[in-house]
Parts: sequence; C-alpha cells; structure tokens
Amino acid sequence: METAKGIALVTGAGSGIGRESALSLLGAGWSVVLAGRRREALEETASLSGALPPAVLIAPADVGDPRSVASLFAAAKAAYGRLDFLFNNAGTSARAVEFDELTYEEWSNVLAVNLSGAFLCSQHAFRMMKEQNPRGGRIVNNGSLSAHVPRPNSAPYTATKHAITGLTRSLSLDGRKYDIACGQIDIGNAATGRTERMASGILQPDGRTAVEPRMDVGEVAKAVLFMASLPLDANIQFLTVMATKMPFIGRG
Ligand SMILES: NC(=O)c1ccc[n+]([C@@H]2O[C@H](COP(=O)([O-])OP(=O)(O)OC[C@H]3O[C@@H](n4cnc5c(N)ncnc54)[C@H](OP(=O)(O)O)[C@@H]3O)[C@@H](O)[C@H]2O)c1
Repeated sequence: METAKGIALVTGAGSGIGRESALSLLGAGWSVVLAGRRREALEETASLSGALPPAVLIAPADVGDPRSVASLFAAAKAAYGRLDFLFNNAGTSARAVEFDELTYEEWSNVLAVNLSGAFLCSQHAFRMMKEQNPRGGRIVNNGSLSAHVPRPNSAPYTATKHAITGLTRSLSLDGRKYDIACGQIDIGNAATGRTERMASGILQPDGRTAVEPRMDVGEVAKAVLFMASLPLDANIQFLTVMATKMPFIGRG
C-alpha cells in the first residue's frame, strides 16, 4: 500500500475548484478531508475519486459557523492526528446589484464565508500544525483576480478577496517560526458553476455585456497540487492562473 503523501483538508470540496483539487490530491496519494455544507456533494466527490476511508473523510461543515469549523477540525484530528495542507477554497458572492441596493445581510454573509471562514479554518489548522510532530504544514488561500481588481457590482466579494491577501501575508509571516507556509492562488475564469455567467455574457466596466473565455478547472487543480507538493522550506507565495484571453491585463 502506498504511504499517504500527507493529510489535506479542502473546503468547498463538493463542487468546482474544491472538487477538482481534492480529486487531484487524492490521485497523487494524499489523504483528504472533504468539507462543505452539502453531504451529497462531498459523497459524489469521494465516489468520483474511487478513494475509500481512510484515504478520504467526508466532513460536512459550514465555514461561516465557528462551532461547525471546530467540529470539522476535531473530526480531522480524530481521524488522522495531523494536518499537512489546508486549502481555504469555500467561497460565495452576493447578488450583482448596484452598490446602494445591497443589504447588510448580503454583505455579512459574504464576509462570514469568504473571510471569517478562511480565518477560522486557518486558525484551527495553525494550531494543529504548530503542535504536531513533525511540526508545520501549508495553507493555501483561494483569492481571485478580484483580489487585484473588481468586477462591476461586486463590492462584498472584492472586499473579501482583497482581505484574503492580507490574511495570506499575515499567515506567511506569523507561520514562519512554526514551519507553517502560506500561499495564495488567484484564479480567473475557471469553468465552474460560479462562472457560467462568463459563458453567457457578463457586464463589463464600460456597460457592455460580453462573453468571456474560460479555462478548464483541471488546470487550477494541477496548480493547487503543485503548491501543496513543495517541501516546507519552499513556498509559492502568490500564483495567478487565468483564462489567457480574458479581460484583465491591458485595461480590458
Ligand atoms: N471559478 C473561478 O474562475 C474562480 C475565480 C476566482 C476565485 N474563485 C474562488 O474559488 C472558490 C471556489 O469557487 P468555484 O468556482 O469552484 O465555485 P463553486 O462550485 O460555487 O464552489 C464554492 C464551494 O464553496 C462551498 N461553500 C459555500 N459556502 C460555504 C459555507 N458556508 N461553508 C462551507 N462551504 C461552503 C460550496 O459548497 P456547499 O454549497 O456544499 O457548502 C461550494 O462547493 C471560491 O472561493 C471562489 O471565490 C473561483
């Protein structure tokens, strides 16, 4: 039997980037904790991988709920006793409406999932990685091109993704003395349910609606696996992977 490469935990593992990344880690011999709110979606990821326990652990959790995150990490610790890699991938956005139409609840929900969720998961992972023997581990945060520039009508999403960059930098600094590495992947237009609007036409800053190119989500999963696979004395601090011809570089 192949020895596990390490223990990974992926949030939002029931769809899109989280699912593909979990499949890629499992395929490379990692044991993976699959987290997300919908158990059926996590079960489908496990079944697509063909992996069985203990290589895979289905752990439904809401990253926006501190108690649920505590239970998630307790389950991971009980099953494996350590954590080598956390992919903070779970994310959401608010309705794409004019800034003044947003409700406080919509703003708060995006903050709870995208920012507080990443904070809570990182804090539990940090504690485990600091205490375990061998010490250390790696955290990768899923940022976005919206960690650099906004799309129209996306203030909550853009604000949280900019904030994720600050969390990444702080974790990189505070983790150094405990052999905890932290990096960020900033993705543009990977083909998932979240980006179907790009294929049908999405509002541009100049008011036009335009179809934007997307890329295969498998390319993102390869990048996540690459980041996860480095030895702890090397780190990909920031990695941008995007559809080559999407509007980002060159003002459009
Ligand atoms: N696709 C892209 O081009 C792109 C570009 C930039 C950044 N991203 C980022 O990539 C991440 C994944 O996006 P995606 O494109 O793969 O879209 P997706 O398929 O909608 O994935 C989002 C995942 O997050 C999970 N999630 C949402 N709220 C949660 C909560 N409260 N607790 C736990 N899990 C939660 C969802 O599962 P449940 O509903 O089961 O909880 C879902 O599996 C997001 O952070 C997104 O901002 C994507």
